[in-house]
Amino acid sequence: MGQPPLEIRVVAAGEAALLENVVDDVFDHPVQPDLLRVFLASPDNVLVVARVEGQVVGMASGLAYVHPDKPLSLFINEVGVSARFQGRGIGRLLLDRILIWGRDRGCAEAWVATEIGNEAARRLYESAGGVEDDERAAVYVYSLADPTRKGGP
Ligand SMILES: CC(C)(COP(=O)(O)OP(=O)(O)OC[C@H]1O[C@@H](n2cnc3c(N)ncnc32)[C@H](O)[C@@H]1OP(=O)(O)O)[C@@H](O)C(=O)NCCC(=O)NCCS
Repeated sequence: MGQPPLEIRVVAAGEAALLENVVDDVFDHPVQPDLLRVFLASPDNVLVVARVEGQVVGMASGLAYVHPDKPLSLFINEVGVSARFQGRGIGRLLLDRILIWGRDRGCAEAWVATEIGNEAARRLYESAGGVEDDERAAVYVYSLADPTRKGGP
C-alpha cells in the first residue's frame, strides 16, 4: 500500500477550520484560534499547509511587505514539518508553494533566515535555489512586555 495522498495548499481567510487538526510538533506552540483569525485576515500574510488525511503535518508562513526604498518582498517566517513526516520532500513542496504565492503577489524577492547549525533547513533553502548571503547576521530580541527591563526607552 502506498502513502496516503498529500495536499499542499494556501489557507484562505475563511479557512481557519483547516487548522483544527494539527500534528503537535508542526508549530512551536499550539495554534490559537484568535491569533490564527487575525493572521488570516491580513492579505499580506500567507500560510501554506501540508495535509495528510485531514491532519496538518507541515506549514510555511510568511509576510509580504514594502519599504519606502524597496519593492514588495516576501519574508518567509517559519517552515516546519512534523518529525514523523520529514525527509519526504514536504518541506520543499511548502517552500516552492510559498515562493509561488510571493511571485503571484508581485514580490520582487523572498528571503528566509535560519540558524547556522540547522543543516536540514539550510539544505532545504539551498535546494530550492536560495543563495546564501555572505553576511552573518546577529539577532537581538527586546522583551516589550517587561516594563522593568534595563537599557530600554
Ligand atoms: C527544515 C525542515 C522544514 C525540512 O523539511 P523536510 O520535509 O524534512 O525537507 P525535505 O524532505 O523537503 O528535504 C529538502 C532538502 O533538505 C534535505 N534535508 C532534509 N532533512 C535533512 C537533514 N536532517 N539533514 C540534511 N539535509 C536534510 C533533503 O535531503 C533535501 O535536499 P535535496 O533537495 O538536495 O535532496 C524540517 O527538517 C523541519 O521542520 N525542521 C524543524 C523546524 C525547522 O528547523 N525549520 C526551519 C527553520 S524556521
